[in-house]
Amino acid sequence: MKKSIFLLSMSLALIACDNDPKEPVIEEVTMINLPIDPHSNSKPNIARVKHLDWNADINFETKTLNATASWQIECANGAKEIVFDTRDLTINSVTVNEGEASTYSLSEPSSFMGAALTIQIPEGCKKVNISYTTSPEAGALLWVEGEKPFLFTQSQAILARTWLPCQDSPGIRFTYNANVKVPSGLLALMSAENPQSTVESGEYSFKMEQAIPSYLMALAVGDIVFKPLGERCGIYATPALIDAAANEFMETEQMLIAAEALYGPYAWGRYDLLILPPAFPFGGMENPRITFATPTIIAGDRSLTALVAHEMAHSWSGNLVTNATWDDFWLNEGFTVYFENRIMESVYGSEISEMLVTLSYQGLVEEVKEIHAEHPEDTHLKLKLQGRDPDHGMTAIAYDKGYFFLRLIEETVGRERWDLFLNKYFSEHAFGIMDTERFLEYLHKNLITPEESASLNIDAWVYNPGIPANCPVVKSERIEKVDLQVQDFIAGKIHAKHGLEYGNWLYQERYRFLSNLPAKIGYDNMKQLDGIFEITSTQNNEVLFAWLELCIKTGYEPAYDRLRSFLVSVGRRKFLTPLYKALIDKGEMELAKSIYEEARPNYHAVAKGTMDELLGYE
Ligand code: BES
Ligand code: ZN
Repeated sequence: MKKSIFLLSMSLALIACDNDPKEPVIEEVTMINLPIDPHSNSKPNIARVKHLDWNADINFETKTLNATASWQIECANGAKEIVFDTRDLTINSVTVNEGEASTYSLSEPSSFMGAALTIQIPEGCKKVNISYTTSPEAGALLWVEGEKPFLFTQSQAILARTWLPCQDSPGIRFTYNANVKVPSGLLALMSAENPQSTVESGEYSFKMEQAIPSYLMALAVGDIVFKPLGERCGIYATPALIDAAANEFMETEQMLIAAEALYGPYAWGRYDLLILPPAFPFGGMENPRITFATPTIIAGDRSLTALVAHEMAHSWSGNLVTNATWDDFWLNEGFTVYFENRIMESVYGSEISEMLVTLSYQGLVEEVKEIHAEHPEDTHLKLKLQGRDPDHGMTAIAYDKGYFFLRLIEETVGRERWDLFLNKYFSEHAFGIMDTERFLEYLHKNLITPEESASLNIDAWVYNPGIPANCPVVKSERIEKVDLQVQDFIAGKIHAKHGLEYGNWLYQERYRFLSNLPAKIGYDNMKQLDGIFEITSTQNNEVLFAWLELCIKTGYEPAYDRLRSFLVSVGRRKFLTPLYKALIDKGEMELAKSIYEEARPNYHAVAKGTMDELLGYE
């Protein structure tokens, strides 16, 4: 195991033995030296957290959490303070060790970074206890109103600090226990060992024995029930959705078995899914032991399960081997897209998985064009996000340029060598961190020859813009057939009624078709497509999204009611941004604003942030 680069023996500390003061015990204080993270105020090489005891009262009336975070810490010799990240938190009191008074200060807050909480600590300090209240505007939290209210968190990238004073850097791991009190009748779940049924008292206890970084801290509270899907897998959802959800994700355990066969044992015990309200701003979030997911992947035909493969893959890439800072985000997401695709290939076959890759290639080309025009350096795999919200790194670059780079390595060295390498990579760095430079070094030491390295042209991928010339070419016969139909449809050689295969296609083919039709196909074609295939009322939200975008481009107004209801109920940013953009491009700013006015209260802060900017909302 090659830990030496980060393992730095800080010093030798003399620790007086409790039992016999004459016999001092020499204990080596070793702290792994962590890289500087520009998105955290904490100074982990001086003092850092290792375990959390969290007690929280969840108040739906005031939309606040009242909580105490007791952090067990470890310090370098001579450490006099420990620094935490906070944002919009009210600090009520701070003590050290077993409740001894201490002094602390909160810095001036700065936008997305929040305020640094600096606590003075005595020599040999073991614990700090922070009692605090969150703000109703806390960025991570979404309070969904209704007969039965719902609360969920979304901490990645740097929003954990809005509901927990923490050292909010992906390189800093800790274990935790929690006691959470919620209104009677509701169930609470965390990224930990979870209950499977509601208790009358509303008091739940959690235990997380595997150390995780703060961005994987998660909490959900709601009228939630559980159904098992297999031995290690199960699903949580509201009573209204549980049966549909259980049916949709029946293959989860099979995916887990496939994942383990590829890259080694699953390290987290259970793998459950939680279906959140539609306002969830992402498709999924890889919270350990319990993936949080949007309900928009329930299509009725198990066609959108790639998202489960993706979040599950993060149990290795991301949760087990974690990007050291958000500049290395591609190590989380690129590896995960690669792994996701391998799971899809092994469960559904390569015809399906190659179709998905073909679609993501198209997405990558489009996004590179867009990003490159303004910020070419944001198309490098290695990012420079200092001074910016790390949310800006969440583009197709990390995901899909990352994917194609890894696929290129696979194609260069062959699958056998590559898979062996990845197995070793995950097991040797489990519960550790990785940055781009260390990964490349590890790659050279353990896998590629100098000749292979040269042919990969690593610099072009990692430190240069755009899509390198040696990007793997993917071919999908089914997608090629769709592309021919697109051409013929545009040329008027085939019509919805005659010659078009749409009715026989899988969602991937439908998506390809709809997302490649130009505005000029006109109203009559749209009306015919809709009349025959009833696309406006499709249950598949990916198809619906591509269709609605086309409806905006072509000005097909019969779909606008559906467009409005979709935008008002669904808060998934990946759908929102292109749809609002399409409205703006079409000169429909007023309509966009009127829909947004109605929809905005339902959105999570990360979606609001993006849409506010897009629509000039104040
Ligand atoms: N970890 C991400 C979501 C994320 C990234 C949240 C950065 C906040 C900051 C998650 O695993 C993800 O990638 N979700 C995708 C799923 C897709 C690629 C299958 C999403 O939500 O669209
Ligand atoms: Zn991901």
